[in-house]
Amino acid sequence: MNLKTSKVAPAADADPSAADHTAGAAAFELPKLPYATAALAPVISERTVSIHYTKHQKGYVDKLNALVAGTPLADLPLETLVAKCAGKPELVQIFNNAAQAWNHAFYWQSLSPAGGGSPPASLQSRLQESFGESDAFEKQLIASATKHFGSGWAWLVKDGTHLRILTTANAENPLTKGMTPLLTIDLWEHAYYLDYQNRREDHLKELLAKRINWAFAIDNLDKAP
Ligand SMILES: [Fe+2]
Repeated sequence: MNLKTSKVAPAADADPSAADHTAGAAAFELPKLPYATAALAPVISERTVSIHYTKHQKGYVDKLNALVAGTPLADLPLETLVAKCAGKPELVQIFNNAAQAWNHAFYWQSLSPAGGGSPPASLQSRLQESFGESDAFEKQLIASATKHFGSGWAWLVKDGTHLRILTTANAENPLTKGMTPLLTIDLWEHAYYLDYQNRREDHLKELLAKRINWAFAIDNLDKAP
């Protein structure tokens, strides 16, 4: 999974022996949105996307950079950092911000202004193998994500040879569970509250019907081990 959230590459003329662990050095960057902030409206309003991206996601990236500045952790790729910090109480703050930085970059790519509708045939057949009849995946995802308690994420993952629906709490993600993420939906209230208030299920139905990026799931499935 080649996410844009990544280490800033050193300058071509940088001295490789002089690793920069100085506080304030930019280690991780906020990836650009793959579309304009208004592009998901009316399913997700421009205001929600803008606040979500410029306040919440940027906040996680900025906090992560502050936490790892001056440590060897600042040199790790983001996915490696997430895996390294998972399950370690002394690193939970770094894990939370690193995983949220990764999750949000993956989330925006899981949506598309031209998304939704029925999955393409190649993905539909895989979904039916794992979940049953034509729209069983969508129904099961909406049910799991609606009943998920509190903040977190809903995922379509590849687990071994099967596809599975998973929800995770807070910043947790499938990378730490040996699964390959294919799609995700943000279940934190900041993702939908301005537009849908407490109606999470309505938000999920709209996303699945009109904005979910099936092509991104197919791309991730094609690259999955
Ligand atoms: Fe979020």
